[in-house]
Amino acid sequence: MTELTELTGPTRTVAFPQDRTCPYHPPTGYDPLRAERPLARVTLYDGRPAWLVTGHAAARALLADQRLSTERNHPDFPAVTARFAGLRNRTTALLGVDDPRHRTQRRMLIPGFTLRRAAELRPSIQRIVDERLDAMIAQGPTADLVSAFALPVPSMVICALLGVPYADHEFFEARSRRLLRGPRPEDSQAARDELDLYLGELLDRKLAEPGEGLLDDLVREQLRTGEVDREEAIALGLILLIAGHETTANMISLGTFTLLRNPERLAELRADPGLLPDAVEELMRMLSIADGLLRLAKEDIELDGTTIRAGDGVLFSTSVINRDEDVYAAPDSLDWHRPTRHHVAFGFGIHQCLGQNLARAELEIALRTLLDRLPTLALAAPADEIPFKPGDTIQGMLELPVTW
Ligand code: HEM
Repeated sequence: MTELTELTGPTRTVAFPQDRTCPYHPPTGYDPLRAERPLARVTLYDGRPAWLVTGHAAARALLADQRLSTERNHPDFPAVTARFAGLRNRTTALLGVDDPRHRTQRRMLIPGFTLRRAAELRPSIQRIVDERLDAMIAQGPTADLVSAFALPVPSMVICALLGVPYADHEFFEARSRRLLRGPRPEDSQAARDELDLYLGELLDRKLAEPGEGLLDDLVREQLRTGEVDREEAIALGLILLIAGHETTANMISLGTFTLLRNPERLAELRADPGLLPDAVEELMRMLSIADGLLRLAKEDIELDGTTIRAGDGVLFSTSVINRDEDVYAAPDSLDWHRPTRHHVAFGFGIHQCLGQNLARAELEIALRTLLDRLPTLALAAPADEIPFKPGDTIQGMLELPVTW
């Protein structure tokens, strides 16, 4: 490992990541950092110092800067938890590789994630949303919205898209949870082993008899031709399966919670459902559920008189960046009418979320249908007693008791 010297620049340092105190606001522990734009310094769990990008313009410049690497198995790559460090030597597709390999992998998958493809999927997403709500309502008038709706909807959608049997959902959802949240590093490693084995067997079955999904296309067009090997194909399947269900599930649950806690904005939305696409975008900005993007500087980078040195860890707090007052007036409040498109909740640059068109379609349909079918939807427990996820993973509700 390169010797990591003191970072030069701002002198204050806080621990990163920290838990949120309110699930839809950045941790109050980051408040001092909001005054230190565009770059603050933080300390990681292992005592290592790192840069935290907090300014919106700087974030977009740096996320597009190829001197920052996402090669996760580099020994100097910053780790936000011991769990994450324990996975360092595993193959990570897309988010773990730089160009040119990244470009090659991304090109293979782009046709499955275009705006047009997401539009074509809308009827089947609507069908899944309707079925899940029918089932939830039949069991009502109370439910845990996470297990009854927010998780199964994106899980079913990504299974259908990839060609993964939904019958296996309990298996892969539990392993994804453990991979992302442990609790112990060895739990995450075991979960990764089991998911690799599962996906390897699935790809073998598809090799013998390809079907309709994107993983079947991958087998037909890239695995059989040798453009990717088995290990890379498994890693591609893994990131699509996990990113495809965990993130959107958290947005649906936390988005619903946030709407129920902001009754005026909810009423505005109910009165004019045409606001929904803008509301989805504003919720993406406000909630910033992937709050801690990671990079390693490969070369020295000058930014506003500060030098990020080669070997330094560079992190991005999307929640702090998306509340930069220079870009968003009154950034801590929800406003369906503000221009919010340029948020970085889906990242930016070459790694910007591959699934964003799909995620937007899912969120819009899920929230529209939920509000439409349940006009009396309310929390079924005191808001401050409803558990949400710790700061070192994707943000969202652990459960969401609702009634109607
Ligand atoms: C609302 C839900 C979602 C959020 C908030 C989200 C967020 C993000 C963010 C912030 C990144 C960039 C990470 C970085 O630069 O370090 C990313 C990348 C990615 N996302 Fe999403 N995502 C969501 C939904 C999805 C869905 C539905 C899929 C479908 C498979 C998906 C697949 C991916 C993939 C494959 C990448 C890596 C892209 C690359 O490295 O080129 N995401 N996502």
